[in-house]
Amino acid sequence: MLPEFLDFSMRTRVMGAAGLVRELGDQVTRLGVERAFIVSDRTLEKLGLVERARQGLTAGGVTVVGEFLDVPPNSDVNVVERAAAAAGEAGGDVLVAIGGGSVIDTAKGMNMVLSKGGNLMDYQGLGLINEPLGKLVAVPTTAGTGSEVTNMAVIKDPAARVKYSFTSPYLGPDLAVLDPEMTLGLPPGLTASTGMDALTHAVEAYLSVSANPISDGLALYAIRVINQWLPRATLVGSSVEARYWMLIGSNLAGAAFSNSLVGCVHAMAHALGGLFDVPHGLANAILLAPGLEYNLDVAAGRIAELAPSFGVWPSGSEEETARAVIEAVKVLAKSCGLPARLRDAGVSESSLNEAAEAAVMDGAIFTNPRPATAEELLEVLKKVV
Ligand SMILES: [Fe+2]
Repeated sequence: MLPEFLDFSMRTRVMGAAGLVRELGDQVTRLGVERAFIVSDRTLEKLGLVERARQGLTAGGVTVVGEFLDVPPNSDVNVVERAAAAAGEAGGDVLVAIGGGSVIDTAKGMNMVLSKGGNLMDYQGLGLINEPLGKLVAVPTTAGTGSEVTNMAVIKDPAARVKYSFTSPYLGPDLAVLDPEMTLGLPPGLTASTGMDALTHAVEAYLSVSANPISDGLALYAIRVINQWLPRATLVGSSVEARYWMLIGSNLAGAAFSNSLVGCVHAMAHALGGLFDVPHGLANAILLAPGLEYNLDVAAGRIAELAPSFGVWPSGSEEETARAVIEAVKVLAKSCGLPARLRDAGVSESSLNEAAEAAVMDGAIFTNPRPATAEELLEVLKKVV
């Protein structure tokens, strides 16, 4: 088969090593900047991870001009505006985000407002950021979102109860620092759910109608790495090796879906996050298998191609192999102690209508291999409530 068209980009330099944050300042100054504004959250401050980054920055000759440490788990438009105002006042020349997806996406939102002026919502839509923004460095403390390398940010509008996606080739950070020592303290539940988010990125990127040969390569290796290392990272959180490989898996998956986008699982997860604050990774972990079952009719061949990455021996028909892949997804989530039901994430059956209506309006649905109506997504949600 000759693919019709290919468009792949990744602007982020990625560096990885255990203890690399100790050299953060050396790497940041290579970007031609020396006055950092730190973006993070209170939990990471308490765990001493922000301090570790501060020390790494100053050891390399970088001055920390200010900090915003009040990013909540599901960041929103108002947080971004407040943080951008604080950073503007502090007057640094680089944003350094230390955290999970919510922190890094907040920093991306701040970068748009600080670089372009106006309000964050001015940049909601396609093709609105067409030139480089200010310098941005990301140090992930979870292995899930891949936000340290993606061209997008997902930020909630609390008034509308919607999670908006911001997309631009210039949104990706200048530098991503993958230091497994920064993820050692992540509790088992969060390790498992954020890891399943990364797996969902890879699987949905592979099945996306926008998939291309380069994102396919990244996605297949991401699945292999995550399938191999997620149980160990969850059960033996102190394993630097498992933490390292999970950061790599998450990063590979991020690079894949940043280009190919995702599908119905993310559409439903965004809806549940926007409406009911269901944690993103948890929603994906519960919905990945039923989402794949929904796509089986049109994508059995592509799902079956994932078998070797999941350690599944292809046998029988395409559909049989695809079903074995879906079973492998369920086994992986279960072995990491994750729930299989939405009610375990606080979602009641009576709220599913609203979630299905919101999911068909989410941008992720447009790259799902099988078109979906609200009624069809409602059926998917009902299967796992
Ligand atoms: Fe995600």
